[in-house]
Amino acid sequence: MAEAYTLIEDAALGPCNTLRVAARARHYAELRDPAALPAVLDAADARGEPVLVLGEGSNVLFAGDFPGLVLRPAFAGVRRLADDGERVILRVEAGYGWDALVDWSLAQGLAGLENLALIPGLVGAAPIQNIGAYGVEVAERVVAVEAWDRDERRLRRLPVGACAFGYRDSRFKQQPERWIVTAVEFAFSRSAALRLDYAGVREELAAGGITAPTASDVAAAVRRLRRRKLPDPARIGNAGSFFKNPLVADAVARGLREAEPSMPVYPAGRELAKLSAAWLIERCGWRGHREGDAGISAQHALVLVNHGAATGAELLGLARRVADSVCERYGVRLEPEPRIVGATW
Ligand code: FAD
Ligand code: EPU
Repeated sequence: MAEAYTLIEDAALGPCNTLRVAARARHYAELRDPAALPAVLDAADARGEPVLVLGEGSNVLFAGDFPGLVLRPAFAGVRRLADDGERVILRVEAGYGWDALVDWSLAQGLAGLENLALIPGLVGAAPIQNIGAYGVEVAERVVAVEAWDRDERRLRRLPVGACAFGYRDSRFKQQPERWIVTAVEFAFSRSAALRLDYAGVREELAAGGITAPTASDVAAAVRRLRRRKLPDPARIGNAGSFFKNPLVADAVARGLREAEPSMPVYPAGRELAKLSAAWLIERCGWRGHREGDAGISAQHALVLVNHGAATGAELLGLARRVADSVCERYGVRLEPEPRIVGATW
């Protein structure tokens, strides 16, 4: 039988993060069998090393080297748990590619993930920040998350209600040292109602001459929109949105809107409003700004980019200056969306 994992010493992480930051890990292991988790973790503990789970590295900023074990899940089985003819529940292991799952499920006639097409990363990372796009968050499709609990040293199945999902947030993101997601159970539908309300989706479908869209049509439209709006990490290093869209009290949003009538404000429930971080950053003049190889994308103001050889510290420094300027001008604090490894915000 093949080894459950291979351990590499002093591994280069540049190819393992989409911001293309050159960093190193003391150890790196690709885990092919989740049953080997306890042994891998015990060995890291015995070496006194912290552990960082890494999928495709599309939501991390390495501010320095990682003095421990980087663990990449490489198990990617799919199993059908239930099928009543209309609703289908699939259990998908952490190492399956996210966009590959979107594609594969649609090809099976299973709707539900179409609005989340083309988000980079692995399935195991999807619940960490509750990935969302074009009006849907993955939490709406999750039945349960299976994760290794490092505190209790056992595998657990957390029903969706126990995952504390919020906007770009979850129990797993709150306690990164505790959880290693091994599989996710998703609910699909053979006749789901499509979600077309996010700005641009209907227009994109209409532009393609589509009047009665299928779930696959929605995925194709979302892919086209995303390709136009966001820089491609294969061409320029980036981690998607670098900041979350800030949530503020309704009254604060109203005050800001009085001073800046063109400011986008979205209702967010519980007397909260969501502001557009991209808009705030653009208004502060940062769109397309460049300092050495660190920059803010000219295509989308919310995207921090690495033009070549920017270090994690340089990128973090620029991100801090961006956030400071927004806070100074608008009194709104921006929080980073990606996990920052090796520094605190
Ligand atoms: P990584 O970047 O490798 O990890 C992210 C975090 O999750 C880290 O803290 C890591 O330790 C943790 N983690 C990863 N896997 C596990 C696991 N199995 N168990 C425990 N912890 C784990 N996000 C959105 O929500 N919506 C978008 O529209 C979107 N668009 C993007 C566009 C671009 C161009 C890029 C580069 C990124 C975008 N993202 C978006 C962010 C990113 O793609 C998602 O957060 C994605 O889920 C990260 O997957 P990953 O495998 O790359 O995770
Ligand atoms: N805008 C600007 N300048 C820009 C870009 C956008 O002012 O350069 C303003 C416009 O007013 C635009 C608004 O921002 O209408 C919203 O822009 P967009 O639709 O691109 O969405 P976003 O709020 O910037 C969020 C997510 C994305 C997700 C899209 C689509 C966050 C932090 N980001 O971006 O997720 O793909 O919506 O749903 O919530 C990610 O998390 O990495 C990510 C890319």
